[in-house]
Amino acid sequence: MLDRIAAAAVAIESDLASVTDAASLERFRLTHLVKKGTLQTLVDDLRSVPKEEKPTVGKELNSLRKSVEDRYTTLAEQFNRTSDVPELDWSLPARDMSRGATHPISAMIDRTIEVFSSMGFDIAEGPDVEDDSHNFGKLNFAPDHPARDMQDTFFVHHHDRSDLLLRTHTSSVQVRVMEAMKPPIRCIMPGRVYRNEAVSARSLAEFHQIEGLYIDKGVSVADMKSTIMAFARKMYDASADFRFRTSFFPFTEPSIEIDMSCFLCSGKGCRICKYSGWLEICGAGMVHPNVLTMCGIDPEEYSGFAFGFGVERVVMLMTGIDDIRLLYDNDVRVLRQFP
Ligand code: PHE
Repeated sequence: MLDRIAAAAVAIESDLASVTDAASLERFRLTHLVKKGTLQTLVDDLRSVPKEEKPTVGKELNSLRKSVEDRYTTLAEQFNRTSDVPELDWSLPARDMSRGATHPISAMIDRTIEVFSSMGFDIAEGPDVEDDSHNFGKLNFAPDHPARDMQDTFFVHHHDRSDLLLRTHTSSVQVRVMEAMKPPIRCIMPGRVYRNEAVSARSLAEFHQIEGLYIDKGVSVADMKSTIMAFARKMYDASADFRFRTSFFPFTEPSIEIDMSCFLCSGKGCRICKYSGWLEICGAGMVHPNVLTMCGIDPEEYSGFAFGFGVERVVMLMTGIDDIRLLYDNDVRVLRQFP
């Protein structure tokens, strides 16, 4: 029996020498390590070994088995590792390759730019951190105007300037454009604005506005009305009606607010227009002669109009999102709905 064990060890050794890959290792296992294989057969035959020889033979056989099994395990691990690349299962469902999308606020700004570009308007931008003169002074705000109050404006601390603030509206860019350009001016100015307001479902301390400015010789209220109506009909609803209400802004005279018949219910009244039939679309007015003068444009020669509106409010109307904070949380469950 000891001879048979020794012979088996030799045979196994030479077989092991020819194991080069997973397939030959498997052949080795089927020859030596299964129930009817070399090793188990020897174990089975241990039964017929005389009692007094059993301990020696058993010990010999056990150590052979142990060493073969160890080497088998080592080789198996080695081959497994090199063939680590998993086999492709073409029947598995594909993984979601979501590509991201334009945020509804950006989409709204892009679309507005597109519409005004088609009407011949340029785009201008200005700084978020402004000075008092561009945000208020040159826009004809009296020195004691309440908008300058701490309630509305974020002031910026600076070591040697006390007139810096975060712009409260994009009208500051109007001033910069008028200072830098000679009429005719036809421009829209999208951007982020800041107001010291309590955050709620309806208002945030920072949001976006789009400002418009049109200055040339002989520009009239009729030009203002028709330009804004043409924009709104292109942007929202081709058959919209309009309503012009008098209003007040320090930098325009006369000042108006413009309402458009609700694009959802066409004026009949619904949840979106709060059952009034009308949606407020923008503030506007003829640029005040004082403003033109302060910005270096002669009001005797030129006239013009300006308008401005809040982007988030329009996005909320168009999408039905009723809490402005949802536009800033960047929750993919919300954003995914606007591919
Ligand atoms: N700047 C005004 C606001 O923030 C909007 C406006 C712009 C009104 C241009 C008239 C002309 O409310």
